[in-house]
Amino acid sequence: MSTPILDVSNLSKRFGGVQAVEDITFKVQPGELMGVIGPNGSGKTTLVNLITGFIRPDQGSIHYREREITGWMPYRISRQGLARTFQMVRPFYHLPAFKNMIIPLSSPRVKELPGGRYGDRDAVAKDLLEEVGFERDSPVISRSSKK
Ligand SMILES: Nc1ncnc2c1ncn2[C@@H]1O[C@H](COP(=O)(O)OP(=O)(O)OP(=O)(O)O)[C@@H](O)[C@H]1O
Ligand SMILES: [Mg+2]
Repeated sequence: MSTPILDVSNLSKRFGGVQAVEDITFKVQPGELMGVIGPNGSGKTTLVNLITGFIRPDQGSIHYREREITGWMPYRISRQGLARTFQMVRPFYHLPAFKNMIIPLSSPRVKELPGGRYGDRDAVAKDLLEEVGFERDSPVISRSSKK
């Protein structure tokens, strides 16, 4: 078996009287897809928050690509390449779609990616928007203005 890309060991987190995550251990291999299921309040989101640094564990360790990331801040973890998405997508509603694309393309991690595709940020933003049917200066429709 190859080296796991994610190695979670004996992870626990308590909120007052609630043991949200208790002694969780698992590994994810490169290319593997893993789902986490459980009833409401069983600790799924807490587990994701622990792995991505949004909260610190009481116990246990997290290794990503063999590097220990336990207790790191989320921005440091995401720069290593480990990122999460959220259930509710929240673009910057006051900015046009084009500027919403520029923000993620400004991250240090994107800048490190090899290849010409990421050389010209504005061109990449425009290309990506056109791929999904936007035009360069399309506004993001805000929830309040939506009829
Ligand atoms: N910041 C917090 N402070 C106090 N208690 C919390 C906090 N976050 C989560 N909890 C509690 O920890 C437990 C696990 O919650 P969590 O949100 O991780 O569950 P979940 O599996 O994601 O649930 P759902 O399916 O509803 O999204 C719940 O009892 C919840 O009330
Ligand atoms: Mg949840």
